[in-house]
Amino acid sequence: MGFTPAPEEDDAFWMRRALAEAARGLGRVEPNPMVGAVVVRDGRLVRVGHHERFGGPHAEVFALGAAGAAARGATLYVTLEPCCHHGKTPPCTDAVLTSGIARAVVATPDPFPRVAGGGLRRLEAAGVAVTVGVEAAAARRLNGPFFKRQATGRPYVVAKWAMTLDGKIACASGDSKWISGPESRAAVHDLRGRMDAIVVGIGTALADDPELTARPPGPRTPLRVVLDREARLPLDGRLARTARAVPVLVVAGPDAPGDRVGALAAAGVEVLPLEGDAAGRVGSLLDELGRRGVANVLVEGGGTALGAFWDAGEVDAVEVFLAPVLEGGAGEFGPLRGRGVARMADATRLAGLEVARRGPDVWLRGDVPRPWRGAS
Ligand SMILES: NC(=O)c1ccc[n+]([C@@H]2O[C@H](COP(=O)([O-])OP(=O)(O)OC[C@H]3O[C@@H](n4cnc5c(N)ncnc54)[C@H](OP(=O)(O)O)[C@@H]3O)[C@@H](O)[C@H]2O)c1
Repeated sequence: MGFTPAPEEDDAFWMRRALAEAARGLGRVEPNPMVGAVVVRDGRLVRVGHHERFGGPHAEVFALGAAGAAARGATLYVTLEPCCHHGKTPPCTDAVLTSGIARAVVATPDPFPRVAGGGLRRLEAAGVAVTVGVEAAAARRLNGPFFKRQATGRPYVVAKWAMTLDGKIACASGDSKWISGPESRAAVHDLRGRMDAIVVGIGTALADDPELTARPPGPRTPLRVVLDREARLPLDGRLARTARAVPVLVVAGPDAPGDRVGALAAAGVEVLPLEGDAAGRVGSLLDELGRRGVANVLVEGGGTALGAFWDAGEVDAVEVFLAPVLEGGAGEFGPLRGRGVARMADATRLAGLEVARRGPDVWLRGDVPRPWRGAS
């Protein structure tokens, strides 16, 4: 006797397949969401599709186009509500209706104001059976940057650091090369190549003279941002020297010395003056990056800069490379300076933890609970 899954289990199975398809757009579609679609008929996979690149056709169009006449009477699984407006491409609801799809299963509504339930209503009004909310939490997690930007106008912030087993990101002298091994450092380059911006504090720029590029390059070329109230970024450092090839943005204070600002500008560095305290400047920077279409920001340190993003309540996910290295000492350089909490009960517990080995190191990634994530 064969096992027949309940229909709702079928739905979850096929939606997970669509989510895997969606993830193929990582690094290529931002600031659009990653979307995957699967056409299923009589319990069998007909065709899959995903949103492949920013401005390109949507996932449904790929899957339905490939399915052709086989889509008639079939079920469409799609990780985000089909759009119903003319954007860079025609409405996907038209493609769904023309295809003859009988049922549409959708992971989450699209929060984009020009869609926001309109696509679902359009399909239902035309007689398509619509189910919403299948694997919704996984879909919202996959597209955290899209959902955060829609809710707040700000990009998604990943805080990353490499740390000794006794909790330090540098020695007392400030030296930090290298805590983690080559496998971890390769993973960081891979991460950078999927980001739109990388942020460091001037302390790190002075101590490490980092280049902050992805080597080898990834699908995206991140803007390099330095928090630097006095515009102290050295002109002969790697960042300023490469500013004409890969953009550098120095976030200065309103009172930064004019000659320093002028010299950086002459070297091809953009200087953005921002007022306010540390948390206010973090918020203003994220607003500005959101306006520029930045979807993902990586904050690489040091502890002062990371602490400022943390205290501002703007860290959305954490990636830590934990090395089997012991330093000893009181440890001036912790990964998250800033205010801290008085009671362990007030500390933040990460959700959705992922753990893996990277050579001799352990890599951890977790999500910070944030209001825009919603209940799921
Ligand atoms: N292991 C790792 O993963 C890792 C990663 C990075 C760095 N590090 C190490 O960390 C050390 C540097 O850390 P750090 O804490 O001294 O310096 P930092 O966080 O790199 O830079 C801090 C400085 O950034 C400036 N800043 C401007 N706006 C800010 C804002 N809104 N919020 C916070 N800072 C702002 C401030 O200087 P102004 O007042 O002059 O603007 C502040 O003193 C180095 O030894 C480096 O090697 C380790």
